[in-house]
Amino acid sequence: MPDDVILDIQDLNVWYGGIHAVKGINILIKRGEIVTLIGANGAGKSSTIRSIAGLIRGYKGYIGYRNRAGEMLRLNNRQPENMVKMGIALSPEGRRILPHLTVEENLFLGAYTRTDTVEIDNDIDYVYELFPRLKERRLQKGGTLSGGEQQMLAVGRALMSRPDLLMLDEPSLGLAPMLVAEVFGIIREINRQGKTILLVEQNAFAALSIADKAYVLEVGTITIEGAGAELLQDPRVKEAYLGG
Ligand SMILES: Nc1ncnc2c1ncn2[C@@H]1O[C@H](COP(=O)(O)OP(=O)(O)O)[C@@H](O)[C@H]1O
Ligand SMILES: [Mg+2]
Repeated sequence: MPDDVILDIQDLNVWYGGIHAVKGINILIKRGEIVTLIGANGAGKSSTIRSIAGLIRGYKGYIGYRNRAGEMLRLNNRQPENMVKMGIALSPEGRRILPHLTVEENLFLGAYTRTDTVEIDNDIDYVYELFPRLKERRLQKGGTLSGGEQQMLAVGRALMSRPDLLMLDEPSLGLAPMLVAEVFGIIREINRQGKTILLVEQNAFAALSIADKAYVLEVGTITIEGAGAELLQDPRVKEAYLGG
């Protein structure tokens, strides 16, 4: 594997009982890229990203990740906490922030694997710079935030582990178009600052517009792949995902 590959997925298969949700997919991510996985509801996007994060056990296939020391490690069947320590963070679908904790407490939770207190404080400030709205609401309970703000909090919390690979599961879900543009602008900014991003999305237009590389997932199978800009022009993608 070339040195610049950070994630290498080969022949990933996920089953839920008799349901074959992911059917032998391959994904390659290079350091510094934004890679997107787009597809309809039920295509297997979350199953893929959750397998990488160690939240799905017993998948079949190979998932390799290059750690900070440059070694390619097989991720299969490691504990989620281990993944976070190795630099992989997931902002889950449906936000999943803790509604009874404040914004700031939610952010601190994202740093649960870290002990470098001073740096954690610096990273809280960094997240507040990215998301000034969160700073204004830092003492407010998570559950009182709007949908868009909760989404921002989920992304901010994932950043608090200082990941090398940031995985986002449908950050645009339920957001008004203006907020989608805002959140995607911030995702691009996070990427510019050096983080590799795996972005799972149903909003194909927004995702393809910022992606270096893209995969289309249809009922568990990758049917189209290429540069984001290329897929934006692809007649099959236009027809099925961009409203013709
Ligand atoms: N915990 C589960 N138990 C049973 N089936 C599941 C479970 N999670 C997902 N599935 C099924 O696996 C398929 C893929 O789901 P998912 O990965 O969530 O797709 P997506 O994120 O693209 O919407 C769907 O058919 C879904 O119903
Ligand atoms: Mg999903």
